[in-house]
Amino acid sequence: MTTKKDKAVGIIGIGSYVPARAVTNKDMEAIVETSDEWISERTGIKCRHFVAEDEHTSDIATRAAERALKDANLTADDIDLIVVATATPDMLFPSTACLVQHNLNAGKAAAYDLSAGCSGFMYSIATASQFIKTGLYKYILVIGAETLSRLMDFTDRNTCVLFGDGAGAVVLGEVPEGYGILGVHLGSDGGGGPLLSLPAGGTRIPASEESVKNRLHYIHMEGNEVFKFAVKVMGEAAVKALDHAGMQSSEVEWLIPHQANIRIIQSAAKRLKMPMEKVIVNVDRYGNTSSASIPIALEEAIHDGRIKSGQTVVMVGFGAGLTWASTVIRWHHK
Ligand code: ACO
Repeated sequence: MTTKKDKAVGIIGIGSYVPARAVTNKDMEAIVETSDEWISERTGIKCRHFVAEDEHTSDIATRAAERALKDANLTADDIDLIVVATATPDMLFPSTACLVQHNLNAGKAAAYDLSAGCSGFMYSIATASQFIKTGLYKYILVIGAETLSRLMDFTDRNTCVLFGDGAGAVVLGEVPEGYGILGVHLGSDGGGGPLLSLPAGGTRIPASEESVKNRLHYIHMEGNEVFKFAVKVMGEAAVKALDHAGMQSSEVEWLIPHQANIRIIQSAAKRLKMPMEKVIVNVDRYGNTSSASIPIALEEAIHDGRIKSGQTVVMVGFGAGLTWASTVIRWHHK
């Protein structure tokens, strides 16, 4: 009996797209009772971007995907599968991935959405990479895309100052042995679901006059509880992916945490004994873009030259579900 070795899978192209409209903390002061000082001190956020009236999750996902394809030197015809991680799909169905498949004219691609809140991009990388590992598919687009501004309650200062819109995309493909995805860890605790949810608009509470009156079509969050959960789980999850890779945090050059709150990011770095100079942070400019936050941060750090070929990066996220997820990659430049 012959045993077939799994292929090494990694990111071979990356792109991101953040909508043009920048909304500063000062702008938020005109909308709810808040202050630049409060938002900056408690979250580290200074600015976020919101989509235009005619821009939807599938549109910004498509823009990011086009850039990732260009970066990979591929065309949409090469893509076997499109996975979109999103908590803010255009519609309940069809999937946003199918809308992107149509926009890109990716004729041979299968397409599906994956729902794991802010951990969605990590979950999608973990699942999509299996198709390449086993040899079924060659090139896969994984996209994290969100238009959270559409589902935020602009009368609730506890949530509306935190989130922003954006998209990040990668092309997964085979890389040389020893590079690419080295370790993965995924987790969930469905009991914590009510801490962060969008209660209505699904089949449990379909849209009604009452659901609209009770503001159930917006993001609801128990911020303090989510904060405690995030602080606990971020460091733990990163260590588990490192264990899977057979590595220690001292061997890691870069940490890319989900960009939700600078205090959560700092505590994750502390748990991993990593100085903040090794942590990629852009929460100040984009706020929390949920499943898009990690690929946007990765794209910036790759294209500005901070992350170099051969370096090891740990990415770790947490979010609605509750979910958490982490990935260790060794970066490989073509
Ligand atoms: N401006 C001014 N004051 C505010 C604002 C605001 N925007 N929001 C809340 N406050 C007030 C509160 O009303 C409260 O006032 P009170 O003491 O008079 O009642 C006070 O500030 C303190 O509120 P806390 O909630 O205790 O503030 P905290 O320091 O915990 O910060 C925050 C709140 C930023 C939401 C924090 O809990 C947090 O970051 N939680 C995690 C959120 C998160 O990461 N969510 C994303 C999950 S990922 C996903 O899947 C989308």
